[in-house]
Amino acid sequence: MNIPMINLKEQFRLVKKDILKNIYEILSEQKLILGKYCSLLEKTIADYVGVRHAITCANGTDALILSLMALGIKEGDEVITTPYTFFATASSIALVGARPVFVDVKKDDLNIDPKLIINGITSRTKAIIVVHLFGKLCDMDEIVKIGKKNGIYIIEDMAQSLGAQYAGKKAGSFGDIAALSFYPTKNLGGIGEGGMVITDRDDLGEKVKKLRVHGMGMNTYHHEMIGINSRLDEIKAAALFVKFPYLEEWNRKRQANARFYSEKLKDLPITLPPVPDDGTHIFHHYVIKTQQRDDLQAFLKENGIQTGIYYPVPLHLQECFKYLGYSEGSFPISEDAAKTSLALPIYPELKKKEKEYIIKKIREFFTSQTKATRQEFIDKSRSILHNS
Ligand SMILES: Cc1ncc(COP(=O)(O)O)c(C=O)c1O
Repeated sequence: MNIPMINLKEQFRLVKKDILKNIYEILSEQKLILGKYCSLLEKTIADYVGVRHAITCANGTDALILSLMALGIKEGDEVITTPYTFFATASSIALVGARPVFVDVKKDDLNIDPKLIINGITSRTKAIIVVHLFGKLCDMDEIVKIGKKNGIYIIEDMAQSLGAQYAGKKAGSFGDIAALSFYPTKNLGGIGEGGMVITDRDDLGEKVKKLRVHGMGMNTYHHEMIGINSRLDEIKAAALFVKFPYLEEWNRKRQANARFYSEKLKDLPITLPPVPDDGTHIFHHYVIKTQQRDDLQAFLKENGIQTGIYYPVPLHLQECFKYLGYSEGSFPISEDAAKTSLALPIYPELKKKEKEYIIKKIREFFTSQTKATRQEFIDKSRSILHNS
């Protein structure tokens, strides 16, 4: 059996007819960028998240950069974030000229540890970028309090968490501003690159609308500020608009898959991710931890099962961030996670027999490991007895 990490072909079957119809319409009309479908998508997602502004842009990385630019983050400023995330979370900080300051994550969900944030705050700290990693919300009550108390902006990197909610509030509605990605593998994945900035603040919403088009307002070719070119194509917006109504169902299926895995794997010597039943986790990834990660991954690959490592090198140990002065040991929980974490396929279209096969193979790996360890122990004892 061959099981990929994600099965986009299967998903496309469901939405193909409607997407192709929209693409035909757009190509016939030749309104190709920031048109009707971008506006529809923006309105739909703003309503869904429960904020006033959703602004489409070219990708999630730009959404982070635009968020930082809108908040006026610049050279000389510091932005606190996690070292255990996708590169763009921290590179966006450096790209606007500011300094990323890392704070370690919590052992259970690998999200930034609010208790450690205080260690990273200095007089230069302007913002915190929290990442709702793998689709699970950070401890936003505590983080919002820290932001308010210290006069620090909160940016939510919600690239992996559209639809995750806590106490009736959705990811993207807790901080000052949020960045979303529509990269094809995301829970709401596009037919190419895509992103969105989300905010309830009118001042930031208006600013981002200008920043994404070179800083222009209503007056074409008059630039009020220096912005970037980060617009979304209509055909991509139209495809996302077709997929959006399925998001909740897809997220529920991911959650059901996570419950299935956790139930079937609970007696094995692996650390399972938290599986809350309150909607706070939408399982963009289902990540287990084991000291035998590399062997397990190789074994599953031999058996046709693809897995992923998110992320093999924590950001403070990346070559390009050497200038920040961190070293091995600076963030032990992130470093341990980089060595032990393994993401299993969790996509909504996963069939029951595929899930069962994955479980069977993981169990087989650990049973043979147990047998091998037992045999090693018996052999060792025999040789000790023999030599005594
Ligand atoms: C946590 C996180 N932040 C930011 C991004 C960047 O998004 P994009 O790839 O759309 O630029 C991603 C996408 O992989 C991500 O997972």
